Amino acid sequence: MRNILLGLVIAASLRAETGYDAWLRYSPRTVAAPSVVSEFGNSAVLDSARGELIRGVRGVAGKTLRLESGVPKEPAILLGTLPSLQQAVPQWRLSANLAPDAYWLKTVSINGVRFTVVTAQNDRGVLYGTFALLRKLSLGESIDNLDEQQTPYAPLRWVNQWDNLDGSIERGYGGRSIFWDNMKARDDLHRVSDYGRLLASLGINACSINNVNANPKLLTSELIAQAARIAGAFRPWGVQVALSIDFGSPQSVGGLDTFDPLDSKVISWWNAKVDELYRAIPDLAGFVLKADSEGRVGPSTYGRSHADAANVVARALKPHKGLIFYRGFVYDHHMDWNNPKNDRGRAAYDNFKELDGKFDDNVIVQIKNGPIDFQVREPASPLFGALEKSNQAIELQVTQEYMGQSRHAVFLVPMWKETLDFDMHARGATATPVKALAAGKTFQRPEGGFVGVVNIGLDENWSGNHLSQANLYGFGRLAWNPDLSSRQIAEEWTKLTFGDDPKVLSTVTGIQLSSWRTYENYTGPLGLQTLTDITGNHYGVNVEASERNGWGQWHRADDKGVGMDRSVATGTGYAGQYAPAVAKVYESVETTPDDLLLFLHHVPYTHVLHSSKTVIQSIYDSHYDGADAVEQYARDWRTLSGRLDEQRYKDVLAQLEYQAGQAEVWRDAVTNWFLRASGIPDTKGRVGRYPGRFEAESMLLDGYTSVAVTPSEDASGGTAVSCAATKCSASFAFDGAAGSYTICVQYFDQNTGAARFRAFLGSQLLEDWTAAERLPTARLDSTSSTRRSIAGIELRPGDQIRIEGTPDGREPAALDYVELIPEKN
Ligand code: GCU
Repeated sequence: MRNILLGLVIAASLRAETGYDAWLRYSPRTVAAPSVVSEFGNSAVLDSARGELIRGVRGVAGKTLRLESGVPKEPAILLGTLPSLQQAVPQWRLSANLAPDAYWLKTVSINGVRFTVVTAQNDRGVLYGTFALLRKLSLGESIDNLDEQQTPYAPLRWVNQWDNLDGSIERGYGGRSIFWDNMKARDDLHRVSDYGRLLASLGINACSINNVNANPKLLTSELIAQAARIAGAFRPWGVQVALSIDFGSPQSVGGLDTFDPLDSKVISWWNAKVDELYRAIPDLAGFVLKADSEGRVGPSTYGRSHADAANVVARALKPHKGLIFYRGFVYDHHMDWNNPKNDRGRAAYDNFKELDGKFDDNVIVQIKNGPIDFQVREPASPLFGALEKSNQAIELQVTQEYMGQSRHAVFLVPMWKETLDFDMHARGATATPVKALAAGKTFQRPEGGFVGVVNIGLDENWSGNHLSQANLYGFGRLAWNPDLSSRQIAEEWTKLTFGDDPKVLSTVTGIQLSSWRTYENYTGPLGLQTLTDITGNHYGVNVEASERNGWGQWHRADDKGVGMDRSVATGTGYAGQYAPAVAKVYESVETTPDDLLLFLHHVPYTHVLHSSKTVIQSIYDSHYDGADAVEQYARDWRTLSGRLDEQRYKDVLAQLEYQAGQAEVWRDAVTNWFLRASGIPDTKGRVGRYPGRFEAESMLLDGYTSVAVTPSEDASGGTAVSCAATKCSASFAFDGAAGSYTICVQYFDQNTGAARFRAFLGSQLLEDWTAAERLPTARLDSTSSTRRSIAGIELRPGDQIRIEGTPDGREPAALDYVELIPEKN
């Protein structure tokens, strides 16, 4: 009987999970909780708090809280703002000095009855306190004797979604928009409400709901009404809506003949438009504005400054207490590549430093963490240290644009922490970490905070894969408290998301905490940046794509050396944009940390790093280390079989196996590119030599023909085979030692069809699969290159291995190679 019961408990806790509940799963555990809840006050946000509390306690403690009014006679949880509780129970003398959104969890014992008070200065704070209490319950922490006040580190904790009105999402990797479809808000907005719940659980208080590359139509009356519906779905969760606007709107929407920010017609237009917006959305948080950047119009059309542009909109917002986030991401994307003094990295500082003090008080300059664009490693943007009389916010990218696009596990919190904790030395001897500057603490600014570019979508698990949810969680937790450590956040998230089986905990956190370094290792180490396809999808590898164009993500690799000289003495002068203490470190090759060396300096391939390796050998080694680490992630994950629900176990395993294949594609492409460029061999003899690999073009081909792949490093040997017939095959005879092998089939999965593959040993079918992943390319390249691993195959010399491909649509069932990896017994 006991075993049956135990079995039922395990089965229940391992029920299939889609990931929809994210970290708010409220799975059952043995905890003590009161049986009653009482709410003081009345608002939609308080109702959300009460509803969430009932839902959470039901999930975790297995009981449904009874709703009472006033002070119950038995232990209860009391929800309400401090003023409303003070009024209801003055004799309790509850008193605290709470900032907006801060909360206080307090146990009060009266005549031997214990009350758990969740209070705050405003309703939203009560909601945040409720989520905090539920987090404690879910983590198995005692709520018996609480006296905890938490104040958010910064007033502004926003997310930006880059959703287009047609329902697509720029750089979105979790499905289509939850907000928009076909130029209007979706009819069914329940996902928006559920997203609001996730955001509120982290203390995020606003969300911009359309792409920074804004469609001006959003400011038409029809679409304002649609945005108001979205705001309505968010409101009960205390999430205010913000809009991205197009600076040309007075002309394109308003029909004026100008959008000059100093023109009185334009000023009146913004005032009237903002008034109209606030009639439809009274709690509109404000605007996000990308101007004069990547083809967006801006004040430069009229010779006006960014301050002129920001202020005309800010003044319209001011009476409504609205804010404008003006993006610091302004640069020239037609820069002359041939000029060694040109440097995109300088742009934010060069454009905004001189305007410090010219922005109105409700303008926030929104600054990306690094000077380029969300690369795998960048130094902190020098602009953080340069604005003393202007509000600023740090922009972090949660959507993994240059970071594996949710197909790769890359936990970004450790990367963000490095920037947030980096001391800019912006004010004499006191420490001025980026987090304090961004939050407005250093120079006592009225506003400041954190913005995350999130881009979740309609996928059941929101972000395209389960592990990527940790990035949204981590962003929210850091925006609330950037002093939390990466490990604390990773552990908390893992327990809430997968339960607290110690093996699951150590495995998941082990993967998460090392994953950024791993990704950096197999993409762009030493400050090279991501080395991805800069002019294309920003996903696969393309070392040369960053060069010879105006986009400015240059690494300046040639046959002698690599890296971009950003020193003051001989380079672009970028290093001089930092305060002297930082500039001094970055100015010299000797003092620059290895991780940023090639971002700041051009050195010969033979330059010896602090690590004692040469640059070239370090590039080779790190790529092999990175690819090996992902193989290990997949192996580690397999040990969790049976310890978490089957669906998420399988989903993550498939993802890690795919990532392991991709990491090898990256490894081979980057190392071969640098071998070719430098002419210096790998001292360990790995690069260019692949034992056990059988190139498809050298197999016996039936129907398949050889095709050159560009760039050539994207395919093994630069060549693949492609099928123009209805069915083709490639075969070879195994000539190695008898034993057990994994057969890895490296093939191409383009987005132009769903080709079918079959692998045979002699006449025996080993595996049958379809190439139908959502990979963002129609080409044969590193983005479409993927692999199928077939484990546990006993091979004898002379065995025939045959891969059969059946094209579909315009996808030619292309093959790169087959690799036979001996298995250890
Ligand atoms: C990146 C990204 C664009 C985006 C831009 C921005 O360049 O690739 O899609 O519009 O950042 O942040 O404005």
